[in-house]
Parts: sequence; structure tokens; C-alpha cells
Amino acid sequence: MIITIDGPASAGKGTLAQKLAQKYQMAYFDTGMVYRAVGLELVLAGLSVEDAAAAAVAAQKMTFQKMMKLSAHPDFRSDVGGSAASKVAAMPKVREALLKMQQDFARHPVFADGQPAKGAIYDGRDTGTVVCPRADLKLFVTASPEVRADRRHKEFLAKGMQVSLAEVLAQIRERDWRDEHRAAAPLKPAADARILDTTMLTADEVFAQVCKIVDDIQKKA
Ligand code: C5P
Repeated sequence: MIITIDGPASAGKGTLAQKLAQKYQMAYFDTGMVYRAVGLELVLAGLSVEDAAAAAVAAQKMTFQKMMKLSAHPDFRSDVGGSAASKVAAMPKVREALLKMQQDFARHPVFADGQPAKGAIYDGRDTGTVVCPRADLKLFVTASPEVRADRRHKEFLAKGMQVSLAEVLAQIRERDWRDEHRAAAPLKPAADARILDTTMLTADEVFAQVCKIVDDIQKKA
């Protein structure tokens, strides 16, 4: 079974994907990592994240192993990493170079220890529209920018990162705008995606709703 979860930053995609992966013994691919890895590589090399040629080369040379190594860097998950990722993600050559690596995962989904999984769960922006257009279940998870900013702000504070709520909201709005308005694979629900607005829902409520959908699909299979 392949499940895709797309939507804007901090809508709750990652939390939902991890809970589903655990319950249904599926392998999880957070596809934002591939763009964060390319963006951070440019930042660490002292190159501009607007340099499309350098970003294309970094994307072509990106491997799963390199991405995992970069993910240990403190800026991988910070807004430096998020902002760099959303800039390189708007470049068609970068997206093209990173597509196969993402699609290969669905062909042989495995856990971190190499054991085979019962399927794959993706989260990102275009996983239902471009990466896995034939997924068994496509979800588009969203929430108001204010609620998403509040969630992200709390995550940052929990990690000891000092940043104001207003700053986080501004960054979320900027990233939404870039993701929605880029020419290559803009953020939008797949035609056959189920839309889940989590503004008024807890993570547990979202999880329960989606489990019902997954159980129904599995019963019919
Ligand atoms: O999900 P995350 O915040 O880690 O993603 C970082 C950035 O990577 C996003 O803002 C988006 O620009 C880009 N991205 C993308 N397509 C994906 C996943 C992430 O363009 N499938």
C-alpha cells in the first residue's frame, strides 16, 4: 500500500505519517528532506541558494546516505534549512534530479534497518501529484497559517530555539507563497486527494479519522 500526505508546512503531515507508519508497519519517507539536504549543502559550501546551476549539480550528486548525514546538522530543521529548501525546490532541474530517488523508495519500501515494510508513506508537497500519482490513498492535510505557525513556534521553543511567533508566521506565509506559486510542481491537492483541515483537530483526532479510511481500503482490497 502506498499513502501520500501533502500539504503546507506544519499542517501535521509528519506526525500523522509517523503514526500511520508505526501502526501499519509501513516505511516513511519525509520528502522535504531531499530539498533540505540540497539547500543546506549550498549554504554550508558558502554558495547562494539562488544559484540554479550549483543547486542542480548538488541535486544530481545527492544520495540517501549524504542526505542522512546532512540531516544531523542543526540547521537542517531550522528555518535556515526550510527557507533554503523552498528556494531550491522551485528549480525544475533540482526537482527532476531528486525524483527517481523518491520514486525508488515506493518500489522497495524498507525500514531503517533494511527490513522490508508493508508499504510506503510519503509526506511532502507533490507526492500525490508527481512522485506517486498512483498511490492507494492520497491525503491533503492543511490548517490555517496562524495555527500552523503556533505549532511550529512551540516545536522551536521545545528545542530551545529562540524565535518569535510573528517571525514564524511570516516565514510560514513566505514559504506557502513560494510553494504554491512556483511553476514546477506547485503545492496543490491531487484531483483524487482527500482534504483534511486540521485547524480545529488534535493530532489524535486526525490520526483516528485517517485510520478509518485506511482500514476501509484494506478491507476492500
Ligand atoms: O516539509 P518540509 O518543510 O521539510 O519541506 C521543506 C521545503 O521543501 C518545502 O517548503 C518545499 O518547498 C519543499 N518540498 C517540495 N516538495 C516536497 C517536499 C518538500 O517542494 N515533496
